[in-house]
Amino acid sequence: MSQSVHEFALCPDLAALERDGFVILEDAMAVDELAALKDELEPWLQRTPRCEGDFHGWSTTRVNGLLSKSPTVQRLALHPRLLALAEAALAPACDCIRLNLTQAIRIHPGQRAQAPHRDQEMWPADSKGQIWSLNVMWAVSDFTVANGATRLWPGSHRQAVARDIDPGRAVQAQMTAGSALVYLGTLMHSGGANCSLVDRTGIVVGYCAGWLRTYEEQFLAYPPNIARAFPEPLQRLIGYQWHRPNLGNWEGQDPIAVLQNGQSCAAHRDALPPAIEAELKALVDAGKL
Ligand SMILES: [Fe+2]
Repeated sequence: MSQSVHEFALCPDLAALERDGFVILEDAMAVDELAALKDELEPWLQRTPRCEGDFHGWSTTRVNGLLSKSPTVQRLALHPRLLALAEAALAPACDCIRLNLTQAIRIHPGQRAQAPHRDQEMWPADSKGQIWSLNVMWAVSDFTVANGATRLWPGSHRQAVARDIDPGRAVQAQMTAGSALVYLGTLMHSGGANCSLVDRTGIVVGYCAGWLRTYEEQFLAYPPNIARAFPEPLQRLIGYQWHRPNLGNWEGQDPIAVLQNGQSCAAHRDALPPAIEAELKALVDAGKL
């Protein structure tokens, strides 16, 4: 990871992530942002039917594609401290990161606990412990033991554990609205049971290595006519950016070009990381190519 102004402040967060597999950042969202977020999300949560499935839940409501539904989520996805933390955690696995999903999750009273899982299970390959994804769960309401605060198995990102891992070893991410739970894609976790009489609401902003297929198809959620209105860092984060070497191009160009009136039938351009570029140049200079 390149040096950044955030790096010093990040160190304790990274250390906690490496040790426990998660970290909670209290009050990471401003009070007025939280109020705006609630207003923006509520109509979508009200009109969306409940999930259908033992994984996503039967008394749970989920809403995807939040970038076009909530200006506040656009800002949260680019939150400097969280984005820098995601980049630092995922840097060993990729040339650049991308947005894996945005999802509002409302766990209603009566929802039983979700099955323990690692988010990286969605990619059918052994990462050998490498971090390919990281989620930020923003608390929109208070997260309590009673209302289904996320269950986490500390240290399980470094262990081989079974699906029926002992619930007694889990901790719950109790936090106040506006706080952020960050956890690794290799950590065993699950939604908690809501044994209270009130809803528990949060939003997930997930990041992953830039070469992976994403949980939420970002180009369908935000096709060019939608994505053009986003700030360029967000456009790049949702995938309008190639991943060096040479992955994900549009007409041989960085796909950001499709949002900037780029032309098809343009010359194909190399997209190489510096190390490969230097290797090729050395071969050319040595007359071996
Ligand atoms: Fe999960």
